[in-house]
Amino acid sequence: MIELKNIEKGYRNPETGSYESVIQIPQLTIGAKDHIAIAGPSGTGKTTLLHLLSGLISPDKGSIVLNGTDITSLSESGRDRFRADNIGYIFQSFNLLDGYTALENVMLGMTFTGKGSDKAKATETLKSLGLAERLHYKPSELSTGQQQRVCIARAIVNNPKIILADEPTGNLDPATTREILAILKENAKDKILIIVTHESEVLDQFENHLDLLKFKPQEQLS
Ligand SMILES: Nc1ncnc2c1ncn2[C@@H]1O[C@H](COP(=O)(O)OP(=O)(O)OP(=O)(O)O)[C@@H](O)[C@H]1O
Ligand SMILES: [Mg+2]
Repeated sequence: MIELKNIEKGYRNPETGSYESVIQIPQLTIGAKDHIAIAGPSGTGKTTLLHLLSGLISPDKGSIVLNGTDITSLSESGRDRFRADNIGYIFQSFNLLDGYTALENVMLGMTFTGKGSDKAKATETLKSLGLAERLHYKPSELSTGQQQRVCIARAIVNNPKIILADEPTGNLDPATTREILAILKENAKDKILIIVTHESEVLDQFENHLDLLKFKPQEQLS
């Protein structure tokens, strides 16, 4: 379960230096098995929200409680550890390490839990995503869709309770999109899955939609 209370996050405008609020969420509860799609125009704070939920950044105000742990009260290293143990994150911009192969990238993702990596499990996960022939390729030697699938493998290999996916099918053809979505949903059975997407075919597959605009104060709506 995820509980957000009185969340506010903003950034300093690099031109004027003034604080500009991006996200304000008075109250939001997400059940332990909820699958939710977030849509909305560019710049509304979708990636910022996933970063907050994963503890990659901290809110300026409010609390974020994930399965009983208030991550806003943890140190940065505490949040890193919590993320490794509980969250699978699929980055909009991949964040794969260039010097390492697909297999090594997935295995590195496993080491952050402190339990060490498992080559057989990493291999099996990559194979389940159709990458059997690309285990030893580096990100620069993979197509965009293949890199995206390595990110998904890295996110699901530790069997996390919460999967956060920032446009995980943004670079894939319709058939692969359906396949990837099925894999994500299968892996997220009995878990929280929050996915950001602009594709109506993907949105249609989620009953729960989160509209970030509904949290915006009226004066910010044009
Ligand atoms: N480090 C930062 N400093 C200043 N402003 C930032 C920073 N990071 C994000 N923003 C601003 O916050 C707003 C929300 O950004 P965010 O990346 O969350 O949008 P998004 O909804 O994910 O957009 P997209 O659909 O294009 O990915 C943007 O207007 C962006 O300029
Ligand atoms: Mg984004």
